[in-house]
Amino acid sequence: MPVRTVDVGLDDRSYSIFIGPNALASLGNHCAGLQLGRRCAVISDHTVARRYGKRAMASLQAAGFLPALLTVPPGEASKGLKCLQACYDQLAAQRLDRRSFIVALGGGVVGDLAGFVAATYLRGIAFVQVPTTLLAQVDSSVGGKVGINLKAGKNLVGAFHQPRLVLCDLSALNSLPAREFRAGLAEVIKYGIIYDATFFGRLESQLPKLLRRDKRLLMDVVARCCEIKADVVRQDETETGLRAILNFGHTIGHAIEAACGYGAYLHGEAISIGQVAAARLSAELCGLPVADARRIENLFVRAGLPASIKLTSVRRAKVLGAMRLDKKVSGDEIKFVLARRIGEVQFGIPVNAKSIERALCGLARASTLSS
Ligand SMILES: NC(=O)c1ccc[n+]([C@@H]2O[C@H](COP(=O)([O-])OP(=O)(O)OC[C@H]3O[C@@H](n4cnc5c(N)ncnc54)[C@H](O)[C@@H]3O)[C@@H](O)[C@H]2O)c1
Ligand SMILES: [Zn+2]
Repeated sequence: MPVRTVDVGLDDRSYSIFIGPNALASLGNHCAGLQLGRRCAVISDHTVARRYGKRAMASLQAAGFLPALLTVPPGEASKGLKCLQACYDQLAAQRLDRRSFIVALGGGVVGDLAGFVAATYLRGIAFVQVPTTLLAQVDSSVGGKVGINLKAGKNLVGAFHQPRLVLCDLSALNSLPAREFRAGLAEVIKYGIIYDATFFGRLESQLPKLLRRDKRLLMDVVARCCEIKADVVRQDETETGLRAILNFGHTIGHAIEAACGYGAYLHGEAISIGQVAAARLSAELCGLPVADARRIENLFVRAGLPASIKLTSVRRAKVLGAMRLDKKVSGDEIKFVLARRIGEVQFGIPVNAKSIERALCGLARASTLSS
């Protein structure tokens, strides 16, 4: 199967995304094309390193690099100050210099952490993304947002630092637990809703094949998602406007994650609920045909993702409170990304607390949309 390439055009920060089965074997060769130093560090988590660390190291060594492997425990807790400090210390011990580079081998946690390390170590060195979860391949590895969490909240410290290259190994998705794979599909479906009705229709008709992780289909799907993200990021790299559309379903999703305790829902699961709620709000406020809101909900449900959440009145208040704390909220107004139709969204739509509560109540009552 040939490798697919998607280019992210950002002037002197442009880079390519290579997508294919067994792409990891070509990591060294791809890095050799970047004209960087020989010393580099592969940052990964224990789970991913156990499966793919050796292959990554061997490929880099065969291309003449001198890689060091740094691992952190799997899970969101590694995206914090403690692991950040440990990474800096190890980079210094390995004598990485300004021409050295970092390879992020893993899911979004590793990508965000390693990317932030690269953005800040020696005031910024090059980095390469090798995403191994579906979510990371279609979303977090592309676009240059990197960062870590504080006790006070997720992603509160960060930077924009574009990778020099992204390598999506579709074969790595074979070992991904089913729940993680489905969570990634929530972001895949999002791209259809915000940007491409034809793609959404294709997901509807080919979902069973996608759930079987058919390689050819996955290649098309990952490539299309990367193209859409690249297109959006190219137009608005630092999120002054359009890039906000990537947050469809995320205002409610983030609030659910925060109110229910991180870990209760995977990010993809929380934004699945958030997108169904946003579709409901879109039908109420933005002219989305009710039939389309139903199609959106059905696709998430068929993908094995949650479309509803049971909320006690205390929880509901917590979710609304968390939404007001979201760093994307200014003042008292909560701004939403809503859909006019599948494939076309509008951002910055103020939604009052009453409508949000209604959407949340609707979610609490049943998973079927009322017309
Ligand atoms: N920077 C961005 O633009 C952006 C966008 C979306 C999400 N994110 C961030 O991404 C993070 C979530 O990323 P994620 O969902 O990839 O989670 P993750 O990195 O925690 O990975 C999920 C789990 O899967 C395991 N895993 C990874 N690849 C595997 C493989 N091939 N086989 C078997 N197991 C594997 C990991 O060890 C981990 O336990 C969050 O911190 C979120 O904030 C960032
Ligand atoms: Zn997301």
